[in-house]
Parts: sequence; structure tokens; C-alpha cells
Amino acid sequence: MAVSIDHLNKLIRSRRSTKPRLFNGKKIDDSIIWQILENANWAPSHGLTQPWRYKVFAASGLEKLAEFQANLYKKITPEEKFKPEKYERMKSNILKSSHVIVICMKRQKSEKILELEEIEAVACSVQNMALTAAAYQICSFWGSGGVTYTDELKEFLGLEKKDKCLGYLYLGYSDNPTTTSRREPIQEKVEWIT
Ligand SMILES: Cc1cc2nc3c(=O)[nH]c(=O)nc-3n(C[C@H](O)[C@H](O)[C@H](O)COP(=O)(O)O)c2cc1C
Repeated sequence: MAVSIDHLNKLIRSRRSTKPRLFNGKKIDDSIIWQILENANWAPSHGLTQPWRYKVFAASGLEKLAEFQANLYKKITPEEKFKPEKYERMKSNILKSSHVIVICMKRQKSEKILELEEIEAVACSVQNMALTAAAYQICSFWGSGGVTYTDELKEFLGLEKKDKCLGYLYLGYSDNPTTTSRREPIQEKVEWIT
């Protein structure tokens, strides 16, 4: 099937990360979320291990995740480093989202494929989601701050010991989406050997 290269270039180059604080609260139809997830599933993976796993938080699930992570931040942060505004943001980022897709990597039982490659495959899958969201004019933001890499979050998500949480994909609509970003020229990052 032929896909217009102009459309593809435009989609890839115009996709932006929009912070959840800019979301307007409008809900995304679950059928669109399933399209986003379906495209996530078509990422490549070494040995076709398909290591991406997603936990979709929606409706009252968002409140559960917001409460959990704000309380965890409070619990694990030394008093002198605790920032009330960060505590609030840990809730509001989630509550302003329509859906939060928690990005996980399922470690292969045999561990034959390198963990690095499994993480790379999940990242490909997440980019599929971000691009699909952009095509639907839905804002997305991959966040990996706060409590992302804690054992407590892993337990909350029901992950096994060797699995990993790689962050959250916040999804929502915005009246003021981010439209600009910056890249150093690709020529500076490429060595062309002939
Ligand atoms: C693996 C990964 C983790 C990220 N984690 C964060 C984060 O914790 N906080 C943040 O502000 N942005 C995070 N970002 C988003 C980047 O800030 C964003 O992609 C970058 O600023 C470029 O913006 P653009 O996507 O609109 O071009 C993350 C991106 C990736 C790929």
C-alpha cells in the first residue's frame, strides 16, 4: 500500500510533545485509544519478542494513579527535598490527561535477547503511538520523571522483577498545543562513509 511521503514527512516532523498542563480536559474516545495501541503493536522487535506492555489508565483509574504516585513521591522524598508544587503536579498531570498509557517492558523468560534491544523495541512502539496520536490531532507527552523507576511503582503495576516501567504516555487534547521544537541539523549527527 502506498502512503504519501509528503504526509509521512509532515506527520513525523510536526509531531510535538505537549505537556499535560496544557491539556483541556476533553476526553479521547476509547476507540481511538485502541487504534493507537494497535499501531503500537506493529513495532519491530528482535526475535519478534513484542516486549511492549501497556497499562491504560482512564476515568477513575486516573485518580488511582495520581493518588498513588503523589503519595509515593511524598514517601520516598526526604523532607528537605520535598516540593509541594511537585506533589501537586504529580497529581494534576495525570488528572488533566484523558488517558495515561503506562509504558512497560516485559522481560523475555529466556533472556536470550539483550535487555537493551527489548527497551529499544518498546521505544519504537511508543513512537508509533505518538505519531498515531499526532495524526488524530491528539497531544502526547512521554514523561519519565518522578517515581517512574521505583520498585513501588512496579509493584503497583503488577510487573515482575525483571520487567521495567519506562514512563508514562500522557494523552489529551489541548487548545494550545506545542508546535515548536528544535533539532541540530542531521548532517552534524551523521558520518557518511564511502
Ligand atoms: C524516553 C523519553 C523520556 C522523556 N521524559 C521526559 C521527562 O521526564 N520530562 C520532560 O519534560 N520531557 C520528557 N521527554 C520528552 C522530551 O522532553 C521531548 O521529546 C523533547 O523535549 C523534544 O520535544 P518534541 O518531542 O516536541 O520534539 C521524554 C522523551 C523521551 C523519548
